[in-house]
This record gives sequence, structure tokens and C-alpha cells, in this order.
Amino acid sequence: MKPTKATITFDNGATPIELPILTGTLGNDVIDIRTLGKHGIYTYDPGFMATASCSSAITYIDGEQGILLHRGYPIEQLAENCDFLEVSHLLLHGELPNAEQKMDFTSRINGHTMLHDQLTNIFRGFRRDAHPMAVMIGVVGSMSAFYFDSMDVYNPEHRMISAYRLLAKMPTIAAWSYKYNLGQPFMYPKNKFNYAENFMHMMFATPCEDYVPNQILAKAFERILILHADHEQNASTSTVRLVGSSGANPFASVSAGIASLWGPAHGGANEATLTMLEEIGDVSRIDEFIKRAKDKSDSFRLMGFGHRVYRNMDPRAAIMRKTCYEVLAELGLQDDPMFKLAMALEKIALEDEYFVSRKLYPNVDFYSGIVMRAMGIPNSMFTAIFALARTAGWIAQWSEMNSDPEHKIGRPRQLYTGEAKRDFVPINLRD
Ligand code: SDX
Repeated sequence: MKPTKATITFDNGATPIELPILTGTLGNDVIDIRTLGKHGIYTYDPGFMATASCSSAITYIDGEQGILLHRGYPIEQLAENCDFLEVSHLLLHGELPNAEQKMDFTSRINGHTMLHDQLTNIFRGFRRDAHPMAVMIGVVGSMSAFYFDSMDVYNPEHRMISAYRLLAKMPTIAAWSYKYNLGQPFMYPKNKFNYAENFMHMMFATPCEDYVPNQILAKAFERILILHADHEQNASTSTVRLVGSSGANPFASVSAGIASLWGPAHGGANEATLTMLEEIGDVSRIDEFIKRAKDKSDSFRLMGFGHRVYRNMDPRAAIMRKTCYEVLAELGLQDDPMFKLAMALEKIALEDEYFVSRKLYPNVDFYSGIVMRAMGIPNSMFTAIFALARTAGWIAQWSEMNSDPEHKIGRPRQLYTGEAKRDFVPINLRD
């Protein structure tokens, strides 16, 4: 029988505290500590190692088994059978769309793929060599100054139109961030293309000639987007929820999520993994970097390895590795030295006691950079593409939070370790 309550007892004989245990559909039960504060004691969990920040029906992860479900559907089945807009619909509305719903959803998204023409000026305020993530943080945040007709976060219709605007415009914003780096003209979206084809068109086409997207690469790109769409309460999603919990508008909330994703411990790891592989350069240097990764005096970590939740292979990494084979074969790059180096590094790490004992496996970021680099996407755009994909998860989680009448502003407490109360000392009396 599962426990229904937990009791905290104190070694000084203080009155024990009883707390209810809540059970979800799947996964760990949680001890409901919401009333704990009135007993004059808090829990302490920097980094949220064992803390559920909310309840959610969107994504479930079993870290021990390496399972990832979106609204109950295994990621393997979604990656194999869906396109990104179908998964976005699933995340946002709770169900895969039927044929009519898919047509309607796609048509609504296509109606918002262009940016307000004044927004092009925001791009031009950046240096040409600005990192695409810096540009995306700025442009997405400034959407609050252009689309303020639908920012009442408590209005379901406003939430949906803002969600559609973000889903529709992120590929345009990401692609234009790249075009701006290149000094090439912005390519406007063409709604005859599907989501991935449109992004590839805006990234790689020029006004000088027609662009025909490679269907194999477009399908692989849809799969890459699906694999990055949502992932429970990760750092950037938790950021979007915390920012949004104050009632902040969806554009400001997603801009904060992009900022959090940029970190190399999070979404920035895909770019950092490629940089690391390029630095390793050759199989003969792998041991040197494995040694550094194990050296506590060295801040270096093996990029693309380890995960807060997965204590097994990240199911997305396995699918991404398969996608690597397909894309490299399509491009005749089976002997891509970077891919071979990654495979050798993965093999060595997975046989090394340090990684095995800590259950450090490749995560989604380990292979994604190799696939995107093979597709002609520069390292600096990897996290921007992660952000465009994760927008689907961010707005689904943001919308779920705002549609919960019980949700409150997020306001953690702390363990204070500073000075006890003391009086002011005039400067002439200070040591
Ligand atoms: C993503 O949360 C999500 O769901 C994120 C994500 C998503 O879809 O949103 O899945 C996307 O962010 C994937 C992770 C991408 N990051 C990287 O690949 C960067 C490299 N990985 C690490 O920085 C690390 O593994 C984290 C940040 C991912 C997880 O760190 P944790 O959970 O805080 O783990 P930890 O730092 O407590 O590590 C436990 C032990 C430590 O050693 P000991 O103190 O036990 O001796 O494992 C070691 C760590 O030093 N360790 C690593 C390592 N990762 C953990 N050692 C070397 N190389 C690594 N990569």
C-alpha cells in the first residue's frame, strides 16, 4: 500500500509535522510541503535536486528507464510518425490533431510567420557578429512592443494567439538572426513549405535563385525539432514558468527562457559539444579530455554527457544518433571525421568507470550538433534551433500554468547565512 502522508519528527521532542503525500498518474509521489512554512521551517533544495515545482500533464520523464512521453505518447513514436506542428498541437492542446484540426492549426500558424516590418530594425541594432541567441533574446522580448493586442495572460484566446504567434515567428527570427550574421538579405517565409522546409528556405535560400528543400534533410530537421520540443521542468522551462508566474507577457517570458537555454550546462551544450569535438580534433587526444573531465580541479566537463534526470541513455540521443546515420548517408558523409570522433568518444566514455559509476550517458545535445553541422548549419545556430523547437514546450507549459486558477507567483525562500543584526558605524569610526 502506498503511503498517504509523511511525518517529520524532531530530535528535540518538538511536535511532529504531518504532511500529505500526493500521487500523480506516473512517476514519483510528492510530499506536499505547502503548509510547512507556518510551522517555522522550510525545506532546502538549491538546484531543485528533489523538488517538484508544479503539477503538469504535458511531459513525463522516467530517468531510470530512459522514458520520455509527451501527453502519454513515447518520444520514439512521435519522432517516427509525426511532424513538428502535430507535436506542437499535442503539447499545446493535449491531443494529436485529426486531419481537419491539423489543416486549421497549420493555416493559423502560416498566418503569423511574417514579422512586423519595424522588427527588422531591431536586428539592425546588433553588430553583424552578434551571437544568434543574443539577437533572439532581444527580438523575442521586443515582440511585447508589437503584439500587445493579445497579452492578457488570463484570457485563453489571448494566450492562444500569442502562442501561435511565437510558434509561427520563431523560425523567421532564428533564420533572420543567421542571415544578419552573414550580411545576406532576410528571406521571407513561404507558406507553400511545411515548417522545416520553410526554416531551411529562410536559412539557406537567397533572392538570386529558387530554393528546393532536400526532403530527407527536411524530414530529419522535423525530427530534430520534435526531439527538442519539451522536456518537463528543465531550467529554461522553469524560467518561463517563474517569469510568467508574475503575470509577465508570453514574449517576455519566452525571451527569459531563451536566455536560460543559452547556458552551456543546458541548451548551449550542443554548440559546446561541437566546439569540444573540434578542440579534441583526433581520436588520439580523447584520453587527454576524458582525464580532464574527471579532474575535479579542472572545470572542463564532457559536453553532451550527463543529465540531471536521466540515469540511463537519453532516449532522444538514441534517436538523434540514428538520424546522424541517415543524414550523413544522404549527404555522402558517412566518413565524417567529427561523427567518427563522437562515436569513439562515446564508446570510451561508456566503458570508463567514472562515467559508468555516475551514470553519465550521452544526452540529446551530444549528437544534435553533428547532424546540424552536416546539414550546413553553423555551430552558433545550434542553440537557436533548440530555442525555436523548445518554444512549443515553453508556451504549452506557460499556458498550462496560466490556465490553472490556483497558480501563484513563484517566490522561494532561503537559508540566510549572512550577518546577524548590527548597527550602522560612521565612516570615521570604521576600521
Ligand atoms: C540539456 O533538464 C533537462 O531536461 C535539460 C535538457 C532539456 O531537454 O531541457 O535535457 C537539455 O540541458 C541536456 C544537458 C546538456 N548539458 C551538457 O551536456 C553539459 C555537460 N553536462 C553537465 O554539465 C551535467 O551533467 C548536467 C548539468 C547536465 C547535469 O548536472 P547535475 O545533475 O547537476 O549533475 P552533477 O553536476 O551533480 O554531476 C554528478 C557527478 C559530479 O561528479 P561527483 O561530484 O559525483 O564526483 O557527475 C559529474 C559531476 O562532476 N558530471 C560530469 C559531467 N556531468 C556530471 N563529469 C564530467 N563531465 C560531465 N559532463
